[in-house]
Amino acid sequence: MALRSVSRKAIGLKLVHKHGFVRGLSSTGFSLPEFSLPDLPYDYGALEPVIMAEIMKLHHQHHHQSYVTNYNQALLQLEHALSVADSPTIVRLQSSIKFNGGGHINHSIFWKNLSPIKELGGEPPKPSLGSAIDTQYGSLDALIQKVNARGAALQGSGWIWLALDKEQKKLSVETTANQDPLVTKGSALVPLIGIDVWEHAYYLQYHNVKANYVKNIWKVINWKYASEVYEKNCP
Ligand SMILES: [Fe+2]
Repeated sequence: MALRSVSRKAIGLKLVHKHGFVRGLSSTGFSLPEFSLPDLPYDYGALEPVIMAEIMKLHHQHHHQSYVTNYNQALLQLEHALSVADSPTIVRLQSSIKFNGGGHINHSIFWKNLSPIKELGGEPPKPSLGSAIDTQYGSLDALIQKVNARGAALQGSGWIWLALDKEQKKLSVETTANQDPLVTKGSALVPLIGIDVWEHAYYLQYHNVKANYVKNIWKVINWKYASEVYEKNCP
């Protein structure tokens, strides 16, 4: 993430505020951030045969990039709308910010949730998270079956999550629609594993059989990452 350097002229905005500041939300010098596409921590083909390279390349370079681009454009427009107290535009932009900002948040987590089989992919969680899973769900396999069932039942596009509920101090399986990030279901929910079940995540390889994609993806789940997030957030 870098401070905004996109030309405002590129989207036709004139951002000279009546009070004299040109960029940012106030005369304090604060400037909205510009988000950027994160690099993948592995090659596009590294998750084969579970996820083919073509899917990963399209998913990262085009789908995720589009969310980032549209998020930045919406924030630029919001910056201007705020500076001129344009309430209708401020309200109108919320849906774009939620969708594209959510897409950026979710995919940034998703890439870290995956790992090649020859590295960490599919290795069981560390004892801290593993024992919490055993206590709450009986076993890792039982949890996976529960998540898979929720994924199969999810209608339309969305995400399946294994979350830590910091207030309840327990794990939780959640789903969110579209690109809603997990935080929209509660600020106490910390995403440990997020699985993208939009068709763009699997259709080129798994066609209409979403259940097979969700079943196979566990072979490349990075439980070490999930365990570290759990340990960082669980008192
Ligand atoms: Fe996606």
